[in-house]
Amino acid sequence: MRIGIGNDHAAVEMKQQIAEFLEELGHDVINYGTDTNESCDYPEYGRKVGKAVVNGEVDLGILICGTGVGISLAANKVKGVRAVVCSEPYSAKLSRQHNNTNVLAFGARVVGIEVAKMIVTEWLNAEFEGERHQRRVDLIMAIENGD
Ligand code: RB5
Repeated sequence: MRIGIGNDHAAVEMKQQIAEFLEELGHDVINYGTDTNESCDYPEYGRKVGKAVVNGEVDLGILICGTGVGISLAANKVKGVRAVVCSEPYSAKLSRQHNNTNVLAFGARVVGIEVAKMIVTEWLNAEFEGERHQRRVDLIMAIENGD
């Protein structure tokens, strides 16, 4: 799978660790930055990864900032993105099964690397269950179109 990854200055080290982890699992990782500890604005990275997912450059996106909140909010403003911020694996798994999320976010200042890896693993392994959940996801997406 092609996975786009992005982060702000709070998550450079965790981004590198997660990118290596994803590569070990056999995924292609496309890095959208940032790669320095210099203070930057997380919306830019949420936007870049969100657009890459919607444009089909990548299959899924992973975003990390201090809390995962700001960067996921930014990604969710890109039409077609369904980003979830998680600090435990159960919500990550269910967000794929029921909500068909296409972007996962978490906080480098909230979870440690091992929990982050568990969150990523559960999210990637889960599959959207469709049926009644498709109807609900369609209703979410209709909001974007002003319905
Ligand atoms: C940066 O200090 C911090 O605000 C950012 O990483 C993130 O937590 C925002 O939601």
